[in-house]
Amino acid sequence: MANLSASLASTADDVITCKAAVAYEPNKPLTLEEIHVAPPEPSEVRIKITNGAICQTDLYYLKGKDADKIFPRIFGHEGAGVVESVGSDIKNLKRGDKVIPAWMAECKKCPKCLRGKSNICDTLVYNWSNGFMPSDKKTTRFSKASNGMPINHFFGTSTFSQYTVCDEACVAKINPEADLSKVCLLGCGVPTGIGSAWNIAKVTPGSSVAVFGLGTIGLSVVEGAKVAGASMIIGIDRDDHKLKQGLEWGLTDTLNTCGLAKPIEAIIKEMTDDQGVDFSFDCTGNPGVIYSAMECANPAGGVAVILGLMDSSKEISFHPSKLLWGKSWTSGLFGGFKGRSQLPDLVDKCVEGVINLDHYITHKMPFSEINKAVELLEKGECLRCVMDYDR
Ligand SMILES: NC(=O)c1ccc[n+]([C@@H]2O[C@H](COP(=O)([O-])OP(=O)(O)OC[C@H]3O[C@@H](n4cnc5c(N)ncnc54)[C@H](O)[C@@H]3O)[C@@H](O)[C@H]2O)c1
Ligand SMILES: [Zn+2]
Ligand SMILES: [Zn+2]
Repeated sequence: MANLSASLASTADDVITCKAAVAYEPNKPLTLEEIHVAPPEPSEVRIKITNGAICQTDLYYLKGKDADKIFPRIFGHEGAGVVESVGSDIKNLKRGDKVIPAWMAECKKCPKCLRGKSNICDTLVYNWSNGFMPSDKKTTRFSKASNGMPINHFFGTSTFSQYTVCDEACVAKINPEADLSKVCLLGCGVPTGIGSAWNIAKVTPGSSVAVFGLGTIGLSVVEGAKVAGASMIIGIDRDDHKLKQGLEWGLTDTLNTCGLAKPIEAIIKEMTDDQGVDFSFDCTGNPGVIYSAMECANPAGGVAVILGLMDSSKEISFHPSKLLWGKSWTSGLFGGFKGRSQLPDLVDKCVEGVINLDHYITHKMPFSEINKAVELLEKGECLRCVMDYDR
């Protein structure tokens, strides 16, 4: 650590040249190339990313499924690293601190943060559909090394770069004992699933749960539901391997959506004495699946949670009477956890061995092979592939 701090000291006010994976247009491989990373402005922090992974949300934006389609851009929002330098207004972070870039921003001073009713912050709202830094809303800290072309930021994190610059609202300081090659996963997927069971649905002991889509988000919902004491956890996917894998996470029943003779909601109703499940979760973003997940929740007070990101060009229609008996159809981001004040506690739980991240890490790769990692997630062949940014 001492060595790292000493070596970082020499770069504090410099423009850093490093490797990043730049997305120039939708649906094309990322371009691994040299970029310049400007020093942080007063409210910002420059971070050396050591490890990171890819979440399906990166691919959603990479494929241009969002309304804004901002390119060129450096994606990535599941990573961890070490502070390299801080802006002049930053008091609580210093060079060498271990951090997780938190796309779930928490400025602690905007009306949304002060209202305290949710984990949504106005900095997140800005970052969601813009590629500039939230401090001035008109500049970026990234540029192409060969010609100076500005490159947009993503979600306030842009972890597909060896160095990134984040607003202070998007930096969670974590336990110095944390293993960055594991806790990088706490940047998005695992807290989203676990927190959705605990904080959004509030799964209760003895309840029945249906989880649609068994990637990292779905499996961490399963993990959260199991810890909360659910007695029936039905896993639904179109991939038999994912269903088999889900048994290790605590599924009590599995259903493959391919080739079913009747609608999945009818089957789930039969499995639950004609009631429907107490809690259902969509972890796919597929419109038909989102609808089925809503349908299969108990009409009398069941809770259906949408976690997947649906293509911005699509819509779902439903009759409001579906909710007349008190069913709730809800959603949320990052499992309802706050980025800066709650993420460090989750890291502590990993250091103490309470949360085990190992079983989500199905692959490891050098950062230089990021396009292979994208392919693995696209083909459904991995949960999380942790990349080493020094290679
Ligand atoms: N709400 C949030 O805060 C938040 C955070 C992270 C990710 N997400 C979203 O959650 C979703 C899942 O992310 P992930 O990283 O776990 O993805 P993933 O690709 O690893 O997993 C998706 C799973 O769903 C299954 N699936 C997809 N379409 C299906 C269908 N039509 N029928 C049955 N099974 C189907 C796949 O086989 C796969 O196992 C994505 O939409 C992502 O954008 C939301
Ligand atoms: Zn805020
Ligand atoms: Zn994510």
